[in-house]
Amino acid sequence: MKNITILGATGSIGDSTLSVVALHADKFSVFALSANTNWQKMQTLCEKFQPKIVVMSDQATAQQLSKVIDKNIQVLHGSEALNTIAAHDDTDFVMAAIVGAAGMASSLSAAKAGKRLMLANKESLVLAGDLMMQAVRDNGAELIPVDSEHSAIFQCLQSGKSGLNKIQLTASGGPFLHTPLNDLKSITPDEACAHPNWSMGRKISVDSATMMNKGLEVIEAHYLFNLPAENIDVIMHPQSIVHSSVYYNDGSTLSQLGNPDMRTVISYAMSYPDRVDSGVAALDLTQNSPLEFYPPDLEKFKCLQLAFDALKQGGNAMGTLNAANEIAVAHFLNNKIDFLEIPNIIEKTLNAIENISITSLESVIANDKLARKIALEAVQHYA
Ligand SMILES: NC(=O)c1ccc[n+]([C@@H]2O[C@H](COP(=O)([O-])OP(=O)(O)OC[C@H]3O[C@@H](n4cnc5c(N)ncnc54)[C@H](OP(=O)(O)O)[C@@H]3O)[C@@H](O)[C@H]2O)c1
Repeated sequence: MKNITILGATGSIGDSTLSVVALHADKFSVFALSANTNWQKMQTLCEKFQPKIVVMSDQATAQQLSKVIDKNIQVLHGSEALNTIAAHDDTDFVMAAIVGAAGMASSLSAAKAGKRLMLANKESLVLAGDLMMQAVRDNGAELIPVDSEHSAIFQCLQSGKSGLNKIQLTASGGPFLHTPLNDLKSITPDEACAHPNWSMGRKISVDSATMMNKGLEVIEAHYLFNLPAENIDVIMHPQSIVHSSVYYNDGSTLSQLGNPDMRTVISYAMSYPDRVDSGVAALDLTQNSPLEFYPPDLEKFKCLQLAFDALKQGGNAMGTLNAANEIAVAHFLNNKIDFLEIPNIIEKTLNAIENISITSLESVIANDKLARKIALEAVQHYA
């Protein structure tokens, strides 16, 4: 029996993780759950999964929740409490599924405690990739990607890295793959969140529409697979059936395919190196043909180019990119800026901050704070 902590349990990845847990009650048990403010959904999850500990972001929602759930469930609040459940002796696996930079510290805690870290929160690697990978190595943690592309590459690389030439991340192109650049100005948040293949939270849905999600994934892949930007490629694949590929020097290419459903990725992370039923239907290729592939349009999807540039710059540039993106996306979702202003705000922020190396968690946090302040000033310019 493996005890699991799910950070960000009330979100889309949280839902999928809990549905896999429910399928395998003989193998997995919920130890702890966390959410930001959604105590009503957390109440339902507590009734169904009976965790030992629950963490909410603030005291008020924690108090609200404790009034309505079983008194045996301990309710904590705040970021220190997230670190506690991520590193707790009684947890074996940690699903890191908080959205954004808010998920970084608890991912790092799980790595430092030597847990199996099932990493959906790609921002942890974008902000603090060197520190994260060092913590994984030093403490014998197991880092298993929970992103369809990285899981695909992780699965393909089970046959080894000898002769590896490049990895190729597939990108669906989101809802605007075929929309002309000029028509993107008037896009609404709901249009941007209407992903054709994947059901996800609103922030990552906007990131998919701008292709910043793919940019963050390129950085994530750089750290996970220890490859430079030159060996990481992106290809458009609107059907989201081929989840990614690895290319070898002998002309061989290995790909992983499946229906676009995160339960496959999550169940693999939970059962690795074995495989268990995830509840996802088997792929029927005859129902998905033709499978199409195109090179990405980096002029239209400027965010992808900005992410490649930030990776090549290194140091704090990736954290700056992430912070500015979070600010810009939040303002777009609140109808304060246009869709096409997202990359402009990120570029302005990147240009305003000196490129320095990142050596500690404190420097990550300081840079994140500075980048958010500058990005907010850039937002005022457009709002
Ligand atoms: N969804 C996917 O298919 C997918 C695929 C690959 C990777 N990912 C990555 O997985 C992560 C989660 O994505 P998602 O789509 O599941 O997001 P989501 O549906 O928006 O859920 C986010 C979760 O994080 C919690 N949360 C939000 N802000 C927080 C804060 N400041 N402090 C603590 N907890 C906070 C939310 O709690 P409340 O409910 O209380 O707000 C919720 O439980 C992201 O990093 C995303 O890039 C997602």
